[in-house]
Amino acid sequence: MINLHKDHESLLTIIIVVFLGLSTVIAIIPAYDMQEKVTPLPKGLDLTTSERNGLKIYISEGCAACHTQQVRSIAMDNKWGKRPSIPSDYYYSKQRLSFLQQSPSILGSERTGPDLTSVGTRQPSDDWHLLHLYNPRIVVKESIMPGYSWLFEKKKKSAVSEKDVVINVPKEFMNDDKYDIVATKEVLDLVAYLKSLKQVDLYNTSSPEFIPALTKKEAASIANEANNLPDGEQLYIDKCSACHQLNGEGLGGAFPSLKGSPIVLDENHDLMIQIILQGYDARAEYAVMPSFTDQLTDAEIAAIANHEKTSWGNKAPTISEEDVKKVREYLKTLTP
Ligand code: HEC
Ligand code: HEC
Repeated sequence: MINLHKDHESLLTIIIVVFLGLSTVIAIIPAYDMQEKVTPLPKGLDLTTSERNGLKIYISEGCAACHTQQVRSIAMDNKWGKRPSIPSDYYYSKQRLSFLQQSPSILGSERTGPDLTSVGTRQPSDDWHLLHLYNPRIVVKESIMPGYSWLFEKKKKSAVSEKDVVINVPKEFMNDDKYDIVATKEVLDLVAYLKSLKQVDLYNTSSPEFIPALTKKEAASIANEANNLPDGEQLYIDKCSACHQLNGEGLGGAFPSLKGSPIVLDENHDLMIQIILQGYDARAEYAVMPSFTDQLTDAEIAAIANHEKTSWGNKAPTISEEDVKKVREYLKTLTP
């Protein structure tokens, strides 16, 4: 038996082993697992070299001390983005900044300044950003944001060349008319990064470009096939595949897989029907699924559900229009 009061070597060893063990289980494995699962959003472009350099400057200048880049799922955040942020939005952080530097997801925790998730949509002008970074008071009179004048160069007017990006600082902010203020490469990269901050819109896409649209005639002929339910596959392509993907596998960090989903395979189909009717927001690691109550009839929902229950290797009992109707009626009794 070790006497921990006297044997400080064992005491220290136990502490270190427990600490390393817990860190691995609680932090390292889940983080690694999460990172492996996250996939980029269909329209979420990767950062260009210049934008990536801008990200480095954003980090080194400590902009995250006053700015968040996360839209929370609460009403007061609606003005910062159309939807709450999801892990796939931070896909860029999978690529390291350098061998020694990880690329952090700069969520931020304090909003002394506005959230920047979609600032590229709000402020698309280079000139505005450059002036604002040189001295925020030039464009926003009451701003308390610090100026970043060291990201600019004060150059003698005679030395300014055509390639230089000169910013037009108003007289009251610069009293020396022998000089011009020239943007450095660093600040141009930073502006490129700020302009790249645009939330990917998930809810206004009918079908993504990579899915070839059927002509009306083709779609109609498939739907008219001797069958008392409409064409579930085509409806799935139109209404669901933008998120859950054509192969039913979803996108890690954004949309769950329907292939092998316990909810889709469940013989009790009430929850599945309820999700399609009412939408779903049960787990933080996924986005929000919209409601389809007003968009789809009972027969259409049954047809889509059957497509999901019998495709991509799924083999579950199918449902009827009547099943959907029952759930819809029941849900109506719940809402006054
Ligand atoms: C001390 C806190 C603070 C720091 C540090 C800070 N900001 Fe700001 N920022 C603000 C405040 C407050 C505002 C709102 C007033 C304004 O527009 O100037 C703002 C506004 C902005 C805006 C305009 C947002 C919009 O919605 O129009 C951008 C872009 C911005 N900051 C970028 C940056 C960048 C890039 C850095 C780092 C180089 C940075 N900020 C550092 C406080 C800060
Ligand atoms: C805008 C994106 C989007 C669209 C369009 C969409 N879904 Fe979803 N769906 C989601 C998200 C996100 C979840 C998970 C929500 C959560 O758990 O927080 C989900 C969950 C589900 C689930 C539960 C699966 C499981 O295992 O968790 C089913 C079933 C489902 N969706 C069916 C459908 C059907 C059928 C359609 C077409 C009528 C559809 N979805 C259209 C985003 C979408």
